[in-house]
Amino acid sequence: MIKYLGSKRLLIPGIQAVVGGVPEKGRFLDLFSGTSRVGHAMKSSGWQVILNDWNRYAWVLANAHVVCDSDRLGEIEPIIDHLNALPGKEGWFTETYCRKSRYFTPDNGARIEAIREEIEKLDPDEELKCVLLAELMEAADRVDSTVGVQMAYLKEWSKRSLQPLRMRTPQLLPKSPLGKAQAHCLEAQEAASKLEADVAYLDPPYNQHKYIGNYHVWETLVLWDEPEVYGVACKRTDCREKRSDFNSKPGIHQAMTQLMENLSAPIKIISFSDEGYLPRPEMESLLEKHGNLQVLSRIHPRYVGARIGIHAPSGEKVGKVSHVKNTEYLYILGDLKVEAEDLTSHGWLFEEPLSA
Ligand SMILES: C[S@@+](CC[C@H](N)C(=O)[O-])C[C@H]1O[C@@H](n2cnc3c(N)ncnc32)[C@H](O)[C@@H]1O
Repeated sequence: MIKYLGSKRLLIPGIQAVVGGVPEKGRFLDLFSGTSRVGHAMKSSGWQVILNDWNRYAWVLANAHVVCDSDRLGEIEPIIDHLNALPGKEGWFTETYCRKSRYFTPDNGARIEAIREEIEKLDPDEELKCVLLAELMEAADRVDSTVGVQMAYLKEWSKRSLQPLRMRTPQLLPKSPLGKAQAHCLEAQEAASKLEADVAYLDPPYNQHKYIGNYHVWETLVLWDEPEVYGVACKRTDCREKRSDFNSKPGIHQAMTQLMENLSAPIKIISFSDEGYLPRPEMESLLEKHGNLQVLSRIHPRYVGARIGIHAPSGEKVGKVSHVKNTEYLYILGDLKVEAEDLTSHGWLFEEPLSA
């Protein structure tokens, strides 16, 4: 999986323990799927998973890691071997992301470019194409020269960027007995109105940092559209136009209220951080109108950039961060008996709702 701000890797056992309290497995909707690791975990627990994220690279990851089932592995392995053997070929991508900016070494950039061109030429079906693109994205992520976001790159090549790029075989899961997974690329409100589920998991952005701006190279890698770019970071110009209401301090309350109204799932689980634009009292008063509310909290290490320090666009370290931990909340809405033992063993605490 790629390095990703707000990735819920450490929260997955807790989410699985909460969902484990639902008497019958069914459809699990992840409305803001990002890396798709939550959906992957729920598929491995036997749920039929429906994923959504409005960025194209996230839709590709969802198709690759969750929609594609393990019965396709046999046809994927020889293609990955073929792609890994291709010599590099420099072009627009290498010029933009390895010379004008420095996210990858030119050697690795040229290999990314040759493999990406070959995927286009092979013209595989949509699901297989997503698997190949996701494996390429993840191979590129393993040799990048950033602190985990594409707002900037390091001044000196990172150690890992000097390693040769190598695609891996994906870890695919067998199809859920409840049905094939689905991936959608919709704005969250539209997805909430259209997609039905038994459990909906919501992990919206919680501050001003736009995902498309932090991961613009992945968007370009999957779209392969040679976009107009700007600034030292060579961001796509459409990063300026794509604005999420969930990234807006004045907008998030209304966006969350509307989302609760649009979403019909009987059980809703919302991830949010104490550093987010919606403080706990505001989140609770918004949610408790929609059913029985339970609140869990867990102390969590902050994102990798915070632990490494603050860097200038040149990659130079220019400051320290004030703290390296934050509190993650899980707000659970609906009639669900959450088993304390399973959760406390994963570091979660039960919080008394503030209105109690
Ligand atoms: C906190 S991240 C989700 C991380 C994910 N749970 C994981 O573990 O990787 C939030 C995601 O919401 C997506 N997003 C932001 N605004 C959106 C919107 N209005 N509609 C749909 N997706 C949105 C972003 O692309 C991002 O991937």
